[in-house]
Amino acid sequence: MARIIGGLTTSHVPSIAGAMARGEERTPYWKPFFDAFTPVHEWLNRERPDVAIVIYNDHGLNFFLDKMPTFSVGAAARYDNADEGWGIPILPSFEGDVDLSWHLIEHLVADEFDLTICQEMLVDHAFTLPIKLMYPDSGGQWPVRTIPITINSIQHPLPSAMRCWKLGQAIGRAVNSFPKDMKVVVVGTGGLSHQLDGERAGLINKAFDLFCMEKIVSDPAALAALSNREIIERAGSQGVELMTWITMRGALNGDVRKVTSLYHAPISNTGGAVMLLSNGSQSVSLAAE
Ligand code: DHB
Ligand code: FE
Repeated sequence: MARIIGGLTTSHVPSIAGAMARGEERTPYWKPFFDAFTPVHEWLNRERPDVAIVIYNDHGLNFFLDKMPTFSVGAAARYDNADEGWGIPILPSFEGDVDLSWHLIEHLVADEFDLTICQEMLVDHAFTLPIKLMYPDSGGQWPVRTIPITINSIQHPLPSAMRCWKLGQAIGRAVNSFPKDMKVVVVGTGGLSHQLDGERAGLINKAFDLFCMEKIVSDPAALAALSNREIIERAGSQGVELMTWITMRGALNGDVRKVTSLYHAPISNTGGAVMLLSNGSQSVSLAAE
């Protein structure tokens, strides 16, 4: 059976890619952030996941305001990266896992999630950067197959945190019922607090970010209970990327422990955060709530 072995969250600020391209990982500005990945690399080396399900928000590359699905799932054999305007290096293509994608889609639709199914999909920095951070030395031969899942964070109305939490739980149940033996890591990318435009541009709320990092481990239902208005007030209009974290956490249905975490702010305009959670095999109720 397929098994979710852990969940990783990281900010996906595009300037991280610029820093990597320029070899600036050890400069004082960047070192604390990149150092957070040393234990992540050790864990990945030890655990060797086969598939990464990457929960992210498309920033106007594959979807735009004319057509914006609330949730979409990739079902392609390959996903190409393109630049949606940040001028960062384009990364080599990512291999998909078509069988697991269709299994997820079947289960999520049966679970009453009305998804957009993407048999072609371009992936942006929110998908590519976390994989590059996980495997910086892979030379583009990514050691995992990937499945992109997007959450609308641009065109209001956005899905609620509770809906995202339930989507995550449904993803967890779907993976656990896939009959092939494989290890899956779930990645939630974005956040934490940031607002890139308008009167509050540059907003970072460290206290709220640290609250999220604590609750995501010990009491994720408290995050799922937040309203969108509350998240935007406290974390900024792009702080809604927290939804990807909540979805990731919903998919972890075992004995969840923190492996490592780091808060480093600001990175560009963002409260930068990295967390790795293990999902032990001691399984709790998989029933729908
Ligand atoms: C920044 C953060 C993001 O999440 C993003 O998608 C683009 C830019 C930033 O802080 O620069
Ligand atoms: Fe973003």
